[in-house]
Formats: sequence, C-alpha cells, structure tokens
Amino acid sequence: MTVDYLVTGGNGQLGRAIAREAAMRGKTICSTGTKDLRVEDQASVQRWLREHKPRFVLHGGAWTDVDGCEKEPHKAILQNGTGTAHVADVCAELGIGLVYVSTDFVFDGKATTPYREDAATAPLSAYGRSKLLGEQAVAAHQRNNFYTVRTSWVFGPGGKNFPAAILARARSGQPLKVVTDQIGRPTYTDDLASAMIDLCELGAEGGIYHCSNEGQCSWRQFAVDILSAAGLGSIQVGSMSSSELGRPAARPAWSVLDTDKLASVRKKRLPDYHDALRRYLKEEAK
Ligand SMILES: NC(=O)c1ccc[n+]([C@@H]2O[C@H](COP(=O)([O-])OP(=O)(O)OC[C@H]3O[C@@H](n4cnc5c(N)ncnc54)[C@H](OP(=O)(O)O)[C@@H]3O)[C@@H](O)[C@H]2O)c1
Repeated sequence: MTVDYLVTGGNGQLGRAIAREAAMRGKTICSTGTKDLRVEDQASVQRWLREHKPRFVLHGGAWTDVDGCEKEPHKAILQNGTGTAHVADVCAELGIGLVYVSTDFVFDGKATTPYREDAATAPLSAYGRSKLLGEQAVAAHQRNNFYTVRTSWVFGPGGKNFPAAILARARSGQPLKVVTDQIGRPTYTDDLASAMIDLCELGAEGGIYHCSNEGQCSWRQFAVDILSAAGLGSIQVGSMSSSELGRPAARPAWSVLDTDKLASVRKKRLPDYHDALRRYLKEEAK
C-alpha cells in the first residue's frame, strides 16, 4: 500500500493534528514518534524512508524547548539542523517530497511590517539558528516538491502550549502576569496541518511559505483572549516585560509573518486566531 505521508514528531501537538487531517482526507499515513525515529540517527532515517517510501515526509519533529536549546546548542544543531539534513538527503535520493516545519524565530524581530519569505534571517537564539540550519539543508537540494513552512506561536489539543498553560494557571487560582513586548501570530495546529497537506496536494512550487492564523497580538493580549473565549474573562492579567521574565533565550520582539504567498496558492487565508481559539477550546472540552 502506498503511504501518502510519513510524519516525524508524530506524538507532538502538530504531529497529532496532521494525523487527524490526513485521516479526514482519506490519506494513508505513517506516524513516527521518537521511540521509532530520531532524525539525528541517519541510518534510522534511511531505513524508515526506504521501507515506507511515502509520497511526502511531513517533518515536524524537532527539539522545541527554546531555552533548553540555548543551554545545549550543540544538541539543538544535531537534532534540528543535522537531523533535518538527514531527512532532506534521503528524500532527495528517493524522490520523496518534503515539508519541513520551521519558525518565526529565524528572524530578529526588528521589522515593522510583516516578514515575507525572502526577508533576511537573523536568529537571536540557538533554537532559531538550529531551525535555520534545517531550512538551509532543505533548500540546498533545490527540489520543487520540498517546502519549508515557517509558523509561529503554535497551539493544539493535548499540546504543551500557551493557551493550555494560561488556562491551567487561571483555573488553579494563581495570579497571571504575561509579557507585553513580544508581538506575533498564534497558529492553530489543525489549520497548519491542513495548509501543509494542501501544499503537497496542490503541487505548489517548492520553497518557503509562511503559515499562521490571521491577526496579531502580544502574549498578554493572547492570554486575555484565551480567558475570554473560555468564559474566564473576569480574571485579571497583569503585564510584564521579557527582561523581567529573564528567560535564557532571546525571543524576537515582533515576528508577524506575512502569509500572502500561501494564501495565493491556497486561494484562502487561515482563519483569524480568535476563531481558531474557539475551535481549540471546543476540541479540548471533548
Ligand atoms: N510550538 C511552537 O510554538 C512552534 C512555533 C514555530 C515552529 N514550530 C515548529 O513546529 C514543529 C512542531 O512543533 P510542536 O509545537 O508540535 O512541538 P512538540 O509538541 O514539542 O512536538 C515536537 C515533536 O518532535 C519530536 N522530536 C523531538 N526531538 C526529535 C528528534 N530528534 N527526532 C524526531 N522527532 C523529535 C518530539 O518527540 P517527544 O515527544 O518524544 O519529545 C515531539 O513529539 C517543530 O518543528 C517546531 O520547531 C513550533
């Protein structure tokens, strides 16, 4: 049986959304978790891809702990950079298409208009640098069925994400203080998964695509929106700065992605993030 999609990071929040989306479309999928396939293990990548020969690899597997990457940059480079190179090399050798998921953290956040796909990259963190290395490994092959999809502020059912953290804290009665000096675009895993599969199914031109829900906000505003959508709008959300939070890795202050290119291929935009939040909460309540 032909496998349409082989997924890395299948147990992550995006990996699970991809499995749901593929099943809805009647696509065959081979989902791998880290117990099956770690991408830094080149022999394992070769074995899995030779055995299953999927039409596409949807490569979302990554070390996503941004502050952890800052403390162990060599490990970040190995997993997110070299690991992605292994995937890209074998896909190229076997003629398999590839969608690599990258991040707004490849930018320095100094822009004042939304980042287009061709904007200069300048990552501020080890995580951002490691993901950029992955992008370069994908681009090096110049394949028309290789896509890098940059996304931002991802949240989805069952995931370790910002909405889940805010709701857990609010429900436990602890005070909430959230940063106001980082602005970005939240992205719902289900909408991202759908866009990734569309790129493959539409046979879009290879290259980089930016993918996030419509709208933009600070983390504090996002927290306010989450509480309001969950019927907890009476809970106060205090303000703080990133420097007050004092995390090891620097984050871009303004990383709004320009999504026009993807919208022109799909002939539609992703829904506004408020709409995405409502669907997320409905799914979480099941
Ligand atoms: N979360 C965000 O806000 C965000 C923003 C921009 C871009 N992204 C990108 O979006 C993708 C999906 O992120 P997510 O939010 O779904 O993260 P996630 O929930 O942390 O999922 C990542 C998955 O990757 C797996 N993984 C970790 N190291 C791996 C390795 N060496 N080889 C293969 N798989 C590995 C993890 O497995 P274990 O569960 O076993 O650890 C996990 O299931 C990532 O590529 C990330 O860089 C995320």
